[in-house]
Amino acid sequence: MKKQLIPILITLVLVSAYAILQNSGARAAPHMDTAPSTDVSFSQDVQPILERRCSKCHMGEFTSENLNMETYESLMAGSQNGPVIVSGNASASLLVEKVVEGEMPKRGQKLTSEQIQIITDWINAGAQNN
Ligand code: HEC
Repeated sequence: MKKQLIPILITLVLVSAYAILQNSGARAAPHMDTAPSTDVSFSQDVQPILERRCSKCHMGEFTSENLNMETYESLMAGSQNGPVIVSGNASASLLVEKVVEGEMPKRGQKLTSEQIQIITDWINAGAQNN
């Protein structure tokens, strides 16, 4: 009688192990949806904001703090103090800190929360030259 129970027990263990694995897979899936959207484009979305709100002081012949936003390369090169963008990590990026705190743009209209979100998403998606 006991020997007959063993295959049943093994089946039960395997079925529950399978169910647990299936469940953990299902729980991991929603994280994919919260990943930063990768369809933010540097040239289409980010650069126009910088041109409109930062160009007076960070483009052209004289650039404040030697932070030149003229091109993707010069922006990524950062200021005389170092990088202002950390690819994949908006909260560690000085540029985001400055606009979130409202320190930049130093003069003129501040960025809207939508504009800050675009920059944040672009950096979190890897700050690509796209
Ligand atoms: C009216 C001029 C002006 C405008 C417009 C402006 N900035 Fe600045 N920015 C400065 C000056 C001056 C500094 C030097 C630090 C200071 O005085 O706060 C600076 C410094 C910075 C720094 C820090 C650089 C470092 O390494 O210390 C960042 C980042 C920055 N600006 C980003 C921006 C962004 C992004 C915009 C547009 C949304 C912008 N700035 C618009 C004048 C300006």
